[in-house]
Amino acid sequence: MTEQDFIPQEYTKTIESGTITWESPSNIALIKYWGKKKDQIPENPSISFTLNNCKTITKLTYSRKQDTSNYEFEVYLDGEKKEEFKPKIETFFKRVQLYLPFLDSYVFKIETTNTFPHSSGIASSASGMSALALCLMSLEKQLNPEMKDDFFNQKASFLARLGSGSACRSIEGDLIVWGKTDAVDGSSDLFAVKYPYKVHENFKNYQDTILLVDKREKQVSSTVGHNLMHNHPFAIERFKQAHEHLKKLKPILESGNLNDFIAMIESEALTLHAMMMTSMPYFILMKPNTLKIINKIWEYRNQTKSHIGFTLDAGANVHVLYPKHESSEILEFIKNELVAYCQQGHYICDEIGLGANQLL
Ligand code: DP6
Repeated sequence: MTEQDFIPQEYTKTIESGTITWESPSNIALIKYWGKKKDQIPENPSISFTLNNCKTITKLTYSRKQDTSNYEFEVYLDGEKKEEFKPKIETFFKRVQLYLPFLDSYVFKIETTNTFPHSSGIASSASGMSALALCLMSLEKQLNPEMKDDFFNQKASFLARLGSGSACRSIEGDLIVWGKTDAVDGSSDLFAVKYPYKVHENFKNYQDTILLVDKREKQVSSTVGHNLMHNHPFAIERFKQAHEHLKKLKPILESGNLNDFIAMIESEALTLHAMMMTSMPYFILMKPNTLKIINKIWEYRNQTKSHIGFTLDAGANVHVLYPKHESSEILEFIKNELVAYCQQGHYICDEIGLGANQLL
């Protein structure tokens, strides 16, 4: 597939007005996307677990207009009009206009809400952009009812990527790869695909408890963060490493070797932060409590041989990852030992999920 394949032929139907609603989840990367070329083309492949509970629900109301000279839309979050969201969506519309030529022929109302608290330090760009991309695809499917489901998902992922890179990994579940790599047949820089190989039972229903160490807005926006990889002294090595990690992850996912899995994901998380510490300008995005949690996890793992591990986003919050069959002991440990390091004791229990759903 190339970009050209996503430019539609003439539509066969006309649609005057209507409403579409999608819910789309967040995702957590195991091998991180950090560094991009133009239009969210990733510098390296990444793989993520789709989440189940942290979601954005977006309702798109549309009605046709005559004047196509500009975009007309309003954005609401939890029923409140959000002027500050408009520039990002306007940029997104401009980027995808070629692939969705109907965009300037409709007036849109975009009403969105997240299942996770707004100020939780959890980025909503992956769930938000994927939900919007899916709503727009549903409208396109009405204009072209012949469209096949596989193409629908692929194009939704392609469009979501143009909104925010990691959003392309939120359309489907449960293990998703984005970025061209020899390790995964069918992988692409343009859209994400389902991981196509055997995955051991150990990874079914994998748990992710998100410890909210810092609920403020991200200190470094992802755009600024990705740009730090331009001229970064270790960038080339890092991109190479991500490819190697994906190759190494395949036998781990197949055999269910949890110790090797944990070593891989923790190394990825710390490498992401190491990249930020060694860029210019440099950032330390962990907080003292992030390190306290990491040390506690390591101590507990050494003592109990439990399969608890962690990963991090580009921020201070900790994603504690563990297999379902160990969840009762590990949740006990989290509540007794780790929650004390969370801001106001707040944390979110999530788990691996199957992707977005259209709602009525
Ligand atoms: C650290 O997808 O938020 O979460 O493409 O600029 O929107 P943009 O970046 P974004 O970057 C996510 C980076 C990460 C790692 C990951 O999810 O792979």
